[in-house]
This record gives sequence, structure tokens and C-alpha cells, in this order.
Amino acid sequence: MFKLDRKSVISAFVVTVATVAVASSVPSKPSIDGGVYYPIVNGKTGPYLVNTQSAGMKINNGRVPTANEIKAWDKDIMPDGTGLPEGSGSVEDGETLYEEQCVMCHGDFGSGGGGYPALAKGNAYELQKTLKNQRNKPDTDGPVRVFGSYWPQASTLWWYIKDAMPHTKSKTLSSDETYALVAYILNINEFEIDGEEVDDEYILDREKFLKIKMPNRNGFEPNIDGKNAREVVRKYYANPANFGAKKVKPNKRCMKNCQKKTAKVVRIQNGGISAFEPPMSVERDLPKKPDYDQGFNVLKNYEDNCMPCHGADGMGAPVTGDKEVWAEVISKGMSTVYKNGIEGIRGMPAKGGASASDKEFKMLVDYMIEKSK
Ligand code: HEC
Ligand code: HEC
Repeated sequence: MFKLDRKSVISAFVVTVATVAVASSVPSKPSIDGGVYYPIVNGKTGPYLVNTQSAGMKINNGRVPTANEIKAWDKDIMPDGTGLPEGSGSVEDGETLYEEQCVMCHGDFGSGGGGYPALAKGNAYELQKTLKNQRNKPDTDGPVRVFGSYWPQASTLWWYIKDAMPHTKSKTLSSDETYALVAYILNINEFEIDGEEVDDEYILDREKFLKIKMPNRNGFEPNIDGKNAREVVRKYYANPANFGAKKVKPNKRCMKNCQKKTAKVVRIQNGGISAFEPPMSVERDLPKKPDYDQGFNVLKNYEDNCMPCHGADGMGAPVTGDKEVWAEVISKGMSTVYKNGIEGIRGMPAKGGASASDKEFKMLVDYMIEKSK
């Protein structure tokens, strides 16, 4: 790969001694300006490799972030367009990106499920209702809690995707890619911008983005802007019905037994989180002690650290439950499999990025294999 002339010897040297900022300027990788970057060295990926300052230390205290890293994290996109870069992207490109990078978690057409939030549930305007009493009656009286019908500002969507998604490699999307993904999400929420439907051919850019009017823009909070804002806000909060109480005597807040006994616990309505750990129970006994070693919760650690990639097709990882694929993995011999997992191999980061001991990591591997027999 390298021709060993003077220049490449120097650049190889620079890559070895410097930290993230330089790693991100390795030309074969898109630069993400010091954000989250997992360098691949000798075919291995790992978050640990960049952390030169802590190498060899027993306790990983991290290190001082570089100026570029701070720059990458310190980004705000405001509703008035402050911080929103120029750029554009089509619904069509957004759909392709979505299929490649998002669908394995957020489901077909943003349907969510399996613990991952839905990004659309249909026509945002139809799903939008008033937001009075939304805190204790979200089912009957509020909008459906997905981006289109619930969020008051579109800028949050742009910022969130650019900053945090895809979950396993945040900050890797370019501005144009972000515009494309946002266009696609507007499309599946059946949005209109400036009277024009965001259809399959739509191309979104900064100017159009700033014209988005969210259906729920006035329902989230009382209007805190404008001439009479103070009175509006006072009036809103003077009415206990706006923040919980059901039947209220005039000027009297409910301080005791305000919820009916049958009131159900309100959880974030994001399309079916079903796997609670410990499981939800109406019985008042202690949760069952997991029969794992020394309190290490294999299931929870698997779900937090391995499932994002091994839970479903699309990340290039052997899928838990796929007997054939795992039989092939195991055929290398378990000591090789453990070693590959602990050190990392190709798309598999060292220990999957988990902060588990070797013994705990092996328990996670055993768990996945057990589920794949
Ligand atoms: C490995 C799984 C995974 C992948 C891949 C992924 N996401 Fe997410 N996404 C999540 C999780 C988990 C959350 C919830 C995070 C939280 O609430 O802390 C989330 C939240 C979101 C939200 C906020 C939803 C809400 O209503 O709160 C948006 C928008 C989003 N993701 C967009 C995307 C886009 C666009 C992509 C593809 C570029 C993507 N995600 C890829 C797991 C994933
Ligand atoms: C960022 C995605 C990602 C995460 C997170 C992840 N893996 Fe992997 N894993 C992969 C990929 C991709 C492969 C396939 C690597 C290859 O052979 O090219 C893989 C392969 C493996 C293998 C097979 C190694 C071999 O010898 O073929 C094991 C075992 C494994 N992972 C265990 C785990 C465990 C346990 C966790 C959770 C602690 C985990 N992985 C988390 C992506 C991931």
C-alpha cells in the first residue's frame, strides 16, 4: 500500500504518534472532523486504539479532548436556522441511506419496534391532536408521539440525526446525507412544505427546510413569545388541568390521590418496548435474581452492547439465532472465536466496544452461541 519513499515514511510516523485529529485525516476514510472515529489498524477496529494517553493505564480515565473533537460535539442547530449548514438531499437518496444504515433498528418505513423508536406512524397532520393534559392522558388527548405529530421543531430532527445517528457510528453522516435522510423522514410522515407535498421526487435544501411548519408547533408548551406571552404562560400554568389534575376545584391544586387507582403507568410511547429487565410485574416481590455469575447480567449486557449489530441482518455481524452462520464461526475453535471477539476483527470492534472483562465477554459470546443452537 505505502511506497516507502521519504514522504510516506513521515506520514506513517505522524499517524502512529498522533491522536484522533490526525487519524481522521487518513485519506481512505471520510474526515469527520475529530468526532467519533474508529480507526482500523491491522484489520481491527477499536475505540481504544485512539486513546493513546490512557494506554497501559489500569483505570481508563480518558484524555483531554482535542480542539477538533470539541468542535465536533459543540454543534447546535436552532429553530431559526442558526447552525444549519447549506446543503441538499433527495427523498430518493434518503431512502437508499435509510435502507443501508437505519432500517435494521428503526424498521421498514420508520415503523420502529423491538425497543427502537418509530420515526413515522402515518400522516403527521392526522396524528396531531391537541396537547392539553398530555402528561397523564397521552393516549386519549395527545398527538401520537413520533417526530411528525409530536415534535414542535424540525431543527431537532436534523440536529439529532447529524449528531447521534446511526447509533453505532454517530457523526459520520455528511450534511447532504442528513438532508436526504430528513427528506425521507418527512416523506414517510406525509409532510407538506409551503403547500407542496414532500413526495418521492422531492429535493430538500436549507431554504425549504426552514419553511417547515410542524403540526404540533403550538401544542407543546404555551406560547412563550410575543406581546402577551407572560400572561399566556401565567394563565396556562394557573390551570392545574394543564399539568395533570383531572377534576379540580377552582384555584385548588390536587395534592393527594390525584391519579385514579387504575391509572396506568405512562411510559414513553415509542412503539412497543416489550423486553423490560427486570420484567414489569404487578406483584410486590423482589425481582428474580439472574442466575448469572457475580451479578453480571448477560441478557442486559447483550442487549446493550451486542444486539445493535448482532440482533438483525444488515450490520455484517453473525446474527444471533442463525444456526448455520454460527456453526461456521464455532468451527474455527472456541479459543480463536474468543480471541477474535476480544481483540476485534474487521467490522467487530474489540469486545464489541463493551467494557466487559474477558470472562464477562466470553459469557456474552456463550450466550449468543447458546441462542444459535
Ligand atoms: C443500531 C440501532 C440504530 C441505528 C442503526 C439507527 N438508530 Fe436511530 N435510534 C436508535 C435508538 C436506540 C434511538 C433512541 C435513542 C434514545 O432515545 O436515547 C434512536 C433514535 C433516533 C431518532 C429519534 C427518535 C425519537 O422519536 O426520539 C431519530 C430521528 C433517529 N434515531 C434516526 C436515525 C437515522 C436517520 C438512522 C440512520 C442513519 C438511525 N437512526 C440509525 C437506534 C438506531
Ligand atoms: C459495531 C458492531 C458490533 C458490535 C457492537 C458487536 N459486534 Fe460482534 N461482530 C461484528 C461483526 C461485523 C462481526 C463479523 C466480523 C467478521 O468476521 O468479519 C462480528 C463477529 C463476532 C464474533 C465472531 C468472531 C469470529 O471469530 O468469527 C463474535 C464471537 C462476536 N462478534 C461477539 C460479540 C459480542 C459478545 C458482542 C457484545 C459484547 C459483539 N460481538 C458486539 C460486529 C459487532
